[in-house]
Amino acid sequence: MRLDDLLFSQGFGTRRVCAGLIQQGWVRLPGVEAPEPGTEVDPEGLTFEVQGRRWPYHARAYILLHKPAGYECSHKPSAWPSVYSLLPAPLRQRPVKGAALPGVQAVGRLDQDTTGALLLSDDGQFIHRLSSPRHHVPKVYEVTLRHAVDAQQVQRLLAGVVLDDDPRPVRAAACEATGERALRLTLTEGKYHQVKRMVAAVGNRVEALHRSRIGDLTLPEDLAPGQWCWLGPQALAQVGFAPPSGKK
Ligand code: URA
Repeated sequence: MRLDDLLFSQGFGTRRVCAGLIQQGWVRLPGVEAPEPGTEVDPEGLTFEVQGRRWPYHARAYILLHKPAGYECSHKPSAWPSVYSLLPAPLRQRPVKGAALPGVQAVGRLDQDTTGALLLSDDGQFIHRLSSPRHHVPKVYEVTLRHAVDAQQVQRLLAGVVLDDDPRPVRAAACEATGERALRLTLTEGKYHQVKRMVAAVGNRVEALHRSRIGDLTLPEDLAPGQWCWLGPQALAQVGFAPPSGKK
């Protein structure tokens, strides 16, 4: 692959911008003294540097973001900054064939005040699989409550509660009290404000909400709010996804 094409594929700008970056000496490649736009590179496993920032090549981007409170999961947020503003420009600019928008997109949404694990990708199959209710990927929420929780509330959340937009009851796949005013709740679907509405339906109220796990992937303790990391094959397997070969 030509170096200017590689940079373009990773979101460093138009082909012209990428060629300019290379010609002006802003791009470093291991083992190549003075790379040119037409320099041939093998992208697999390559880490290069653009304007001092090291960047590992990824044919597809699979990202885990620790969403902080005070950010909206929207490209056009109404009142708060967008979670996309937490990502570096190349992740927001990656060209995506056939997609309406460039760059990685969030898998589902978390409310503005919810914190925790948010997946993002430029792979439509991944986004579809992880957000589809058919696949029942369990998501674990740590819930801080306004009032003390009792065994009856836990039982009702497990048995199912009716929300105002659907007569079919929605139930937690798992639910346990983790403190006097704290619950751990596992859901396999993702309706609008689902945790908050389920908790309200049993007579309590969510004060704070944190998503700690998606499938078997736990938000790493060393990933601070606002930070993100690439997901490798092992982490992808933990959310039940096997990238087609050559897409890692
Ligand atoms: N349920 C909610 O109520 N809010 C979220 O952000 C996620 C799940």
